[in-house]
Amino acid sequence: MKLGVNIDHVGTLRQVRGVSYPDVAAAAEAAEAGGADFITVHLREDRRHVIDSDLPRLAAVVQTHINLEIAVTDEMREIAMAYKPASICLVPEKREELTTEGGLDVVGHLARVRDFVTTLSTAGSEVSLFIDPEEAQIAAAVQCGAPAIELHTGRYAADGNLQPLKHAAAVATAAGLKVNAGHGLTLENVAAVCTLPVTELNIGHSIIARAVFVGLAQAVAEMRQAMGLAAIIRPRQSQQP
Ligand code: PXP
Repeated sequence: MKLGVNIDHVGTLRQVRGVSYPDVAAAAEAAEAGGADFITVHLREDRRHVIDSDLPRLAAVVQTHINLEIAVTDEMREIAMAYKPASICLVPEKREELTTEGGLDVVGHLARVRDFVTTLSTAGSEVSLFIDPEEAQIAAAVQCGAPAIELHTGRYAADGNLQPLKHAAAVATAAGLKVNAGHGLTLENVAAVCTLPVTELNIGHSIIARAVFVGLAQAVAEMRQAMGLAAIIRPRQSQQP
């Protein structure tokens, strides 16, 4: 299993003040130093975390790879086509939500999602669809030709019931999909998700929150340990705070 570290909330801290720090690229380096297998960022329509100019800077420093989360909009497709990240996760987006509050409705937007999957896959990115753990959404993801899904773990994080995720992961694996998962995962609740046939976890908020006290590299290392993964210590390319 791989750990993708979502560094959005380093950007949030910067954007709430409209200043230039903390540096998102430095955060990517620190996360990699602590053992991130890849770096995830969500370029939102309102640019509340990462902003457009972060993307080339991240591309220049990230030694692993970038997983870009985007909404299914023409603007985001254009940006993704310009940067061609190794992987792209299509997510739903509502301006007023605090975070990504539910999965993408692939069933309801089949043709458009299929069109995005085809275009972005042809450009060379691995495309995944962020969906709720529901059989109908998994079937629709297969119909779209998506090679991967990311199961929304928010409901599990809230109620502790692993069963819907377990069932969805089994159904999706049997359908030939690569299964990733994420949202709301913490040091306390991640271990159970690691018992499922899931390839990658994307974890952001709890790691960044823990980093306030122990530093980002250490917070990532602690999450790896909670996931039962071996420690990875990578030298940093540049000296960053
Ligand atoms: N996966 C996806 C697709 C997301 O949009 C997010 C953030 O909303 C996450 C994972 C990470 O969630 P969290 O910040 O709660 O760890």
